[in-house]
Amino acid sequence: MPGIVIVGAQWGDEGKGKVVDLLAKQADAIVRFQGGNNAGHTIVRDGETWKFHLIPSGILYPGLTCIIGNGVVVDPGVLLGEIDGLRRNGVDVSGLKISANAHLIMPYHIALDHSGEAKLGKLEIGTTKRGIGPCYADKAARLGIRVQDMLDEKILKQKIMAALVPKQLMLRPFERDPEWAPKLDLQQMTEDLLAYGHRLEQHIADTGTLAWRSLEDGKLVVFEGAQATLLDIDHGTYPFVTSSNPTAGAACTGSGVGPRAIDEVWGIAKAYCTRVGAGPFPTELHDETGERMRSAGHEFGTTTGRPRRCGWFDAVALRYAVRINTMTALAITKLDVLTGFDRIKVATRYRSAEEEDSTTFDTFPYHQTVLHHAVGEYEELPGWTEDLTECRTWADLPDAAREYLAYLAEVCGAPVVLAGVGPGREQIVWSDDAAQATAYAPATAA
Ligand code: GDP
Ligand code: IMO
Ligand code: MG
Repeated sequence: MPGIVIVGAQWGDEGKGKVVDLLAKQADAIVRFQGGNNAGHTIVRDGETWKFHLIPSGILYPGLTCIIGNGVVVDPGVLLGEIDGLRRNGVDVSGLKISANAHLIMPYHIALDHSGEAKLGKLEIGTTKRGIGPCYADKAARLGIRVQDMLDEKILKQKIMAALVPKQLMLRPFERDPEWAPKLDLQQMTEDLLAYGHRLEQHIADTGTLAWRSLEDGKLVVFEGAQATLLDIDHGTYPFVTSSNPTAGAACTGSGVGPRAIDEVWGIAKAYCTRVGAGPFPTELHDETGERMRSAGHEFGTTTGRPRRCGWFDAVALRYAVRINTMTALAITKLDVLTGFDRIKVATRYRSAEEEDSTTFDTFPYHQTVLHHAVGEYEELPGWTEDLTECRTWADLPDAAREYLAYLAEVCGAPVVLAGVGPGREQIVWSDDAAQATAYAPATAA
């Protein structure tokens, strides 16, 4: 069954949206399976920039089924804002389907995301403050409000009342705040959700069955991950993570299909590394090289506008991501950003930043303290000076750029199927061996 999972291989913002948009041309359905509007996925098409937070990155293909799966947490106001924005721009959104079982981000989740951050003090994670963590917490506590609940006033009100009981103490300061108080009023919340439900009803569906039908017919389903492997709540740099599983296994649980429906897993990685928010980042650069990456790569968050931390490519973390996701291929984005760097570094091992500790390790450490002290040990490769943004084939790339990609494939343990050479939809090059690694490369890439 042709299912392909697209996952972030680093700390997010690798260019997943662009790769999904690229594959969407061949697909019958696109499914977002986790996360919420903490995600920001960008597509640049004919010079026009589109940013999606909840709507799958296939929506620009008229009529394509675009599913928000059960594993996603949905802020219905944000979703309607996105739908309205697309409609205003003439995009047909009739293919959008929302799982009736997806959980809703409620105003009190957003309030708690603000207070939770304040309470952690020094340990501040730097969440997107979109209510993601508190919403997933309620889902696990079986106090969640789901998409289907918007369609039944009585059940909705009862569920909101039950969900509010254990939160009373923490919400008290917000209820006294004139800005938050109206949003947290029970009657107001109920009325707002009923109105949202009324508008979204035409899109609510049994999405697991829809995905299954496409797969059973032998048609391609693309599972679109949000966030990334190292932000995974189980496998990432806990507690500096998001509250869902952005790794490939979640494509199944978050959309209602079994593992045998997946035949390829692509990891998307930048040609260097970035991270938004706090937490370990062994190859981070605090110098002008990092500054240069930030400005050349326009490394500012799609969702919050925060400057992204920048550093060299981390092959230790990547090898880990290849394993955790059983990646069949890598797509390396933003190769163009490295033009003009004399030497390009790749961390192939870690060592401890503590001077008295001389241990090195080439696998990703599970121990939090070890990881927090880890810094990269580097191999250096020659850079290139040519502008890559007009390259369209592997042969167009300078030798040093091709060698860099070949080196990444080797140290990460997965084939590189394509490289991004600019934000535009057409700014990619397929690798010479792409056709051996994936069934979805154009025939000309062979
Ligand atoms: P996502 O969250 O993984 O979908 O990634 P984002 O959209 O948050 O961030 C990726 C950014 O890089 C966006 O601004 C993209 O338009 C841009 N981008 C994607 N691929 C490339 C590339 O190959 N080169 C350059 N220069 N920019 C790219
Ligand atoms: P896309 O899909 C980069 C980060 C936040 C914070 C941590 C927890 O665009 O790659 P949360 O609001 O999820 O509780 O925040 O996760 N984060 C992202 N970083 N890209 C994202 O999504 C992210 N979504 C969450 O910055 O450090
Ligand atoms: Mg993003």
